[in-house]
Amino acid sequence: MFKQAIAPYSKDKEGKLRVLDVGSGTGDGYVLLSTLLSEEGSLGSSYDLDYLGIDISAQMVETASNLYGNQNNVRFECADIRTSQLEGPFDVYLSCGVPYSHLTHDELCQALKMIVTNACENSCRCAVVVDVLGRYSIEWTPKWKESRWDYRMSFFESEGDAEATWMSFYSHQHLQKIVQQAADVVGCQVEKFEFFDRSIMVGRHSSTGEFNPGLPQYRDLVNSLLDPSLETELSQLIFRVELGSAPEHILDFFGQFSGWWNSLVSDATAHQATCV
Ligand SMILES: C[S@@+](CC[C@H](N)C(=O)[O-])C[C@H]1O[C@@H](n2cnc3c(N)ncnc32)[C@H](O)[C@@H]1O
Repeated sequence: MFKQAIAPYSKDKEGKLRVLDVGSGTGDGYVLLSTLLSEEGSLGSSYDLDYLGIDISAQMVETASNLYGNQNNVRFECADIRTSQLEGPFDVYLSCGVPYSHLTHDELCQALKMIVTNACENSCRCAVVVDVLGRYSIEWTPKWKESRWDYRMSFFESEGDAEATWMSFYSHQHLQKIVQQAADVVGCQVEKFEFFDRSIMVGRHSSTGEFNPGLPQYRDLVNSLLDPSLETELSQLIFRVELGSAPEHILDFFGQFSGWWNSLVSDATAHQATCV
C-alpha cells in the first residue's frame, strides 16, 4: 500500500518525499517506510525522506522520538488530528495501525477536510492513506450490524491496551463516501480511490476469537505454516465461518473468496499426501 502511495511521486527539486504520518505511535510507520525506500529499487533508492509523525499521546511521541528522532529529517510531535492546523506541504499523508478508527465518522470527515484543505492550499498533488478497521471482518461477524463499538486490543498483553475503546468501522463504500464528501466541501478533485484489505483471514482477533468465539484460529494456523518446527493440520484452514448480516455484495465476496481459499487448501492437502 505504501509503495502504491509513493510511486506517483517523482522527486521534487530537492529530491524529498514529504510524509505526514498521522497517529504515528511508536514510529512503526517510519520503520515500514524507510525500510521500503531502502529496499525497493523500483521506487528509486535516492528518495530523501522528510518525515513528520504526529500523535495525540505525549508518551508515544516521546518513545518514538527516543527511538528514531536522531535520524535525519525525522520528527515526532504531539498533535490531535481532529483539531491541529497542519503545516504543509506533504506528498503522502500516511497512517497505519488504524489511527483513524479512533475518531467518530464525523471527526474522520473533519480530519480529512483539514488534510485536503492543506493539500489544496499548497497546490500539492498527494496521496492520503486512511487506515481503518474493516466493518465486515470475519473477526467480528456478530458485530456487523454496528459501525462503531467498544473494541478491545486484547491481542496486546499489557492490561492498559485491553481496555475497551470506542472505535469506528468502515465498509469500503462508507469510507469512500466520507473521503469524497471531505473533498467536495473543499472543492478538491480526487483522482483515484483504491481499497485494500490487508488481513482477510489473519486479523489479530482471528487469534483471540474475542468477538467471534467460534472462529478457527486462522492467524495462528497461517503463521504455523511458516514455522518448520510445527506441523499444521491443513483441514483446520478450511474457511467455515458463519457470516453475519451484511449487504449482498459482501456476502457474495465471501462466497467467492471461500471457494478460492478452500480449493487452495484442498490442493495443498492433496500435494501433502503425495509428498508423504
Ligand atoms: C494502534 S496505534 C498505531 C500506531 C502506529 N501508527 C503503528 O502502526 O504502530 C493508533 C495511534 O493513533 C493515535 N491517535 C488516536 N487518536 C488520535 C488523534 N485524534 N490524533 C492523533 N493521533 C491519534 C493513538 O495515540 C495511537 O498511537
